[in-house]
Amino acid sequence: MELICPPNVQVSTYIRSRGYSVPTPCGGRGNCGKCTVKVIEGNLKISTMDKIQLTEEELEQGIRLACQAMPGETVKIEL
Ligand code: FES
Repeated sequence: MELICPPNVQVSTYIRSRGYSVPTPCGGRGNCGKCTVKVIEGNLKISTMDKIQLTEEELEQGIRLACQAMPGETVKIEL
């Protein structure tokens, strides 16, 4: 499913606030790599933990860790 996320709100927090969920077994510390979402519109900066947890190919596809993601603009993501 797709969700439009506003700027300056952590993506995993926003997902929960809308009544949806992503798995967060590490509690949002960026260590488990399980909370991935895919950016389908807009730009979501690659975080330090994204670089550690995700492959180059995943990053190019727009995959990001929701717990580490704080968009600077409105973005559309896929859960
Ligand atoms: S919740 Fe574990 S990496 Fe995001």
